[in-house]
Amino acid sequence: MYNIVKEAHSGIAYLAIFALVIAIINAVSGIASKREFVKKDRTISLIGLIFSHIQLLVGLILYFISPLGFAQLGNMSDSAVRLTSLEHPLINIIAIALITIGWSKHKRVAQDEKFKKIAIFYALGLILILSRIPYATWLS
Ligand code: HEM
Repeated sequence: MYNIVKEAHSGIAYLAIFALVIAIINAVSGIASKREFVKKDRTISLIGLIFSHIQLLVGLILYFISPLGFAQLGNMSDSAVRLTSLEHPLINIIAIALITIGWSKHKRVAQDEKFKKIAIFYALGLILILSRIPYATWLS
């Protein structure tokens, strides 16, 4: 069970990061070209939101079954363990909250502001996500 969830979390990470990068590039190009925010732009932004939320759910499950998650919360002296048990989960929850705020805000603002909300909040979320990934285990 642990290995399946860990592999899923590891694989969805690529999809979530890729979907967020595409949504940000799309939003920045929308701002630059001053074009209208259309259905296709909504879909691209929604895919980024959905993959982030799937990753949040899988991450929450993993947190409670992994030997490197909640189980190690009292052990803060080892930096690798501190990353997986505290920093990575906490920062990623904040990152996904920001992405969700960006999605909600884009619905409530005027046409010419929609791309801006997606670009700013998704980029902030992605920066936070990339700042706290356990790269040493993920890419080895
Ligand atoms: C978009 C958000 C997230 C991304 C991109 C992400 C990505 C990753 C990656 C790439 C790894 C390394 C996997 C490996 O070693 O094969 C990892 C590990 C881990 N993640 Fe996340 N994660 C996210 C959100 C979360 C959240 C919200 C939680 C918990 C609330 C969480 C809990 C964990 C835990 C506990 C590990 C260590 C698992 C282990 O090695 O046993 N993640 N994450």
